[in-house]
Amino acid sequence: MDLSCIEYILSQPIWVLLLSVIGFFHLFITFITFFTWVFITFLRPAKNLKNYGSWALVTGPTDGIGKAFSFQLAQKGLNLILVGRNTNKLKEVSNEIQTKFGKTQIKIVVMDFLGDLSEGIKRIEETIEGLDIGVLINNVGMCYPYAKFFHEVDEELLNGLIKINVEGTTKVTQAVLPGMLKRKKGAIVSIGSGAAIVVPSDPLYAVYAATKGYIDQFSKCLYVEYKKSGIDVQCQAVSQLFVLPVWHLIYPLVRIYRRNTIKVSGSIVCGYEDGINQEIFLLCTFSGWLCSGCHAMDRL
Ligand SMILES: NC(=O)c1ccc[n+]([C@@H]2O[C@H](COP(=O)([O-])OP(=O)(O)OC[C@H]3O[C@@H](n4cnc5c(N)ncnc54)[C@H](OP(=O)(O)O)[C@@H]3O)[C@@H](O)[C@H]2O)c1
Repeated sequence: MDLSCIEYILSQPIWVLLLSVIGFFHLFITFITFFTWVFITFLRPAKNLKNYGSWALVTGPTDGIGKAFSFQLAQKGLNLILVGRNTNKLKEVSNEIQTKFGKTQIKIVVMDFLGDLSEGIKRIEETIEGLDIGVLINNVGMCYPYAKFFHEVDEELLNGLIKINVEGTTKVTQAVLPGMLKRKKGAIVSIGSGAAIVVPSDPLYAVYAATKGYIDQFSKCLYVEYKKSGIDVQCQAVSQLFVLPVWHLIYPLVRIYRRNTIKVSGSIVCGYEDGINQEIFLLCTFSGWLCSGCHAMDRL
């Protein structure tokens, strides 16, 4: 910067200088935040999940995201506890995983999250007794069958949303956490939703979005509570893009994203395993990347 330029700046009124300094710092912080995000999301090497423990517990592993998680975790060398409501589907997924990754040990817990939660939690506790569960994936969740005004949400749907999304997730976490605390290590990943974190509101899905808001805040609080105990906690905000024509444009990004899969250390976690799920909707982490919930967790 030559002298005339400095003189020009110094000759400006004080309020202009003050505003420029504030603007400069704002820009500086924005750049730092952006580059930190790029580093965490794309560049930082993934953690070795086996360092958390040799077992992972996944709820809702028989379809969609939970199924993808189960495959990814098995691929990373973890043994699995699969918690779901349908014995046949659980066995099917278990067989598929064992066919693909021969060495994976798998235990199944049959539990309907709409049924007797205490019974189910007891079965989980019995199954995990003595196992070093390093990773918990709180994936199970339900949504509205279709958009509804709040006054149209019937009691069954209302109770189901709260029971699965809030109560079930909370109680499974409470069942698994003591073991992690004893071993002073673990990772708890709960699947939230863009409906609660990315968009400012999600009308016609009010109760669903609110339950996912609970998951987000629950995860943030646990993150702070247990950080010093060696337990990492993340809420993954998932959104979907229904726009089929853009699929091929976005697909390369999805592949990059998938390569970054299961980086509990920082970035977004899951993705649909090839062949597991439908192409019509793609799990979009891009919204998740922007979410404040993951943001806090990014600093795991
Ligand atoms: N997909 C999205 O675009 C999206 C967007 C935002 C958030 N999410 C969240 O991501 C998570 C997974 O979504 P997804 O689309 O992968 O779901 P999905 O394909 O419908 O799979 C749901 C899984 O949960 C199980 N499940 C459902 N109800 C259950 C119950 N009462 N008891 C025990 N297991 C039950 C299902 O078992 P069955 O196979 O027996 O049915 C299945 O394994 C959910 O928490 C969801 O809210 C998804």
